[in-house]
Amino acid sequence: MSAQNPAPVKRIGVPDIRARKGGEPLVCLTAYDAPTARLLDPHCDVLLVGDSLGMVVHGLANTIPVTLDMMILHGQAVMRGANRAMVVIDMPFGSYEASPGQAFDNAARILRETGAQAVKVESGVYIADTVRFLAERGVPVMAHVGLRPQAALAEGGFKAKGRSDAERTRVLDEARAADEAGAFAIVVEGVAEDLASQVTQAVKAPTIGIGASAECDGQILVTPDMLGLFDWTPRFVKRYADLKALTEDAVRAYAEDVRARRFPGPDEVYRITGA
Ligand code: KIV
Repeated sequence: MSAQNPAPVKRIGVPDIRARKGGEPLVCLTAYDAPTARLLDPHCDVLLVGDSLGMVVHGLANTIPVTLDMMILHGQAVMRGANRAMVVIDMPFGSYEASPGQAFDNAARILRETGAQAVKVESGVYIADTVRFLAERGVPVMAHVGLRPQAALAEGGFKAKGRSDAERTRVLDEARAADEAGAFAIVVEGVAEDLASQVTQAVKAPTIGIGASAECDGQILVTPDMLGLFDWTPRFVKRYADLKALTEDAVRAYAEDVRARRFPGPDEVYRITGA
């Protein structure tokens, strides 16, 4: 290959993710746009176009109003920015729960229109038939158990899971059902360390924790949370940067420069000579 024509980068696929069970932890982050995806891509195994975009990009109170069209638009942008990580796209509320057929039609639309490698569904036990229907028809499915943000209306908010024996059993059942139905990976959200460990041992698919301890086979965070873009984040988020303060300082400096006519200065002005 010449320098002008570099070898194409091989994208991480389902077998690569499955092979990481019990091995080197999977590094996953959410992404919603092309420039951010380009920055994250060299460091991540999976970029998730999460329906959290409703809250962290569109300013909604929860993920319920997010539509399939929104997910596809952001998915297309992320695919333009990432060429190495596996890109997974969330199926939004109302796009997969009615029947396996509805889920297949919408999953096929997501994969066809974005070029992404997989979809994610929030998986109560009731959705296992749908996971199986999709997986058997060639749609790679990531499941999501434990705290399921799309249940926020029914549960009165975002609540960690596993406080009672019944709840612990339900989370384990959700994970086992998704695993047996063919999910290639399982996001486990908002559970204590011992339950995360039990789930991870109970399933063949790698588990990806968010607020679920280091007992999982990988980790995921909502990228704007870990970059410190918001005043409030869940307690399990570690802030790796303070982009909110950096952004505020930059915007304040810009506003002061504009008001004082310091910007644009001589270096930021076109010099056009000739006729
Ligand atoms: O929507 C999302 O970003 C997610 C992650 C929190 C796993 O589902």
